[in-house]
Amino acid sequence: MPLKAVILIGGPQKGTRFRPLSFEVPKPLFPVAGVPMVQHHIEACAKVPGLKEILLMGFYQPNEALSRFLVSAQQEFKIPIRYLQEYAALGTGGGIYHFRDQILAGGAEAFFVLNADVCSEFPLQEMLEFRQQHGDVHSFVILGTTANRTQALNYGCIVANADTQEVQHYVEKPSTFVSEIINCGIYLFTPAIFQHIGEVFQRNQQELALEESSNGWQRAEVIRLEQDVFTALAGRGKLYVYKTDGFWSQIKSAGSAIYASRLYLNQYSKSHPERLAQNKPGGPVIRGNVYIHPTASIDSTAVGGSSPLHSPLLHSRITPVSSIPLWAGTAQSGAGPGLKEHRATPTPMIPMPRSTARPFSGMGASHHPSQSWAAVSPSLLRLLFSTPSSFLTRS
Ligand code: GTP
Repeated sequence: MPLKAVILIGGPQKGTRFRPLSFEVPKPLFPVAGVPMVQHHIEACAKVPGLKEILLMGFYQPNEALSRFLVSAQQEFKIPIRYLQEYAALGTGGGIYHFRDQILAGGAEAFFVLNADVCSEFPLQEMLEFRQQHGDVHSFVILGTTANRTQALNYGCIVANADTQEVQHYVEKPSTFVSEIINCGIYLFTPAIFQHIGEVFQRNQQELALEESSNGWQRAEVIRLEQDVFTALAGRGKLYVYKTDGFWSQIKSAGSAIYASRLYLNQYSKSHPERLAQNKPGGPVIRGNVYIHPTASIDSTAVGGSSPLHSPLLHSRITPVSSIPLWAGTAQSGAGPGLKEHRATPTPMIPMPRSTARPFSGMGASHHPSQSWAAVSPSLLRLLFSTPSSFLTRS
């Protein structure tokens, strides 16, 4: 079955809790366990058999860092990856509706949508298998996990039928307890989702037409998957939740990036042992799962580990090779991204204004994403370690 994946990367006005770090590096490219945040998503998608293309979707202006990353990720994971730029922040549902032709091009029968700011085991294959056993060919799957009663209030909460796993009720960030099952921001859709998003778009248009002072069409395009689409789909036999026991966390603040790094570093011991530092005679002491950037210079008296700071970063006597910008890379050959204009081809669905799609995918440059990170500056380290931690822990 031809599949695609969309990664929602937001834009410069999003990720406010990640500031000031997101002033220095676009949040989706911030290093988590040694590689850009979205590389973990790309790696998981590239492993799914039949997945033909990955689309990064956001409202960042095309920029060198992003294009350089796309070049290297395409080369490393051997899968087409493009960036689709929204003309404005269209919300978590508005962008995929706007670019529906691009998503469906090539006959995609289903596609994943992944929030960029989550860290997860990404059980994508399991979600596909789950969908085959639940609902009909047009049903959609949300990845869910459990949180305790207090934490759940900060997430999208799902009430599901215990036997069928059908979503009966969905509330985004409820003010009182609804359910311990929360939305992980990872979905599996079929093209039928566009009819449901289109209904929201039409309703928005009608409502805005009644408001005399509004400038109508532009705001009608802003659609939130969670509040506008899932809430309406719940209880209609269309939406199912696949509950995972695997690790999952949001990456909203600098402190949560540390926590996410730790989760991925733990996973590396099975999936990528080559990325983890080893103890070597005369070298620094490594305790636990540690990632050291290849260009970092570490004093032999340093001790690096996940304890006692509970941080995956190496601490003590790090010599920053280069400080800010963190993502000053090792790109060679200067070949820029191949900027191409793609016009969206209309499909017979509810009409909506379209702007020109502005995908870009780099070609030609040789650049290894996992080698593109300079050492972390001391000021950043201080900031990361001083950030209070409050993360999802299982009840
Ligand atoms: P907050 O608690 O308010 O941050 O909400 P949230 O945790 O539900 O996250 P939010 O809905 O803001 O974002 C979820 C994901 O979608 C993140 O990866 C964002 O970067 C991304 N995102 C949010 N808004 C947009 C948008 O307008 N366009 C695109 N392409 N992505 C978006």
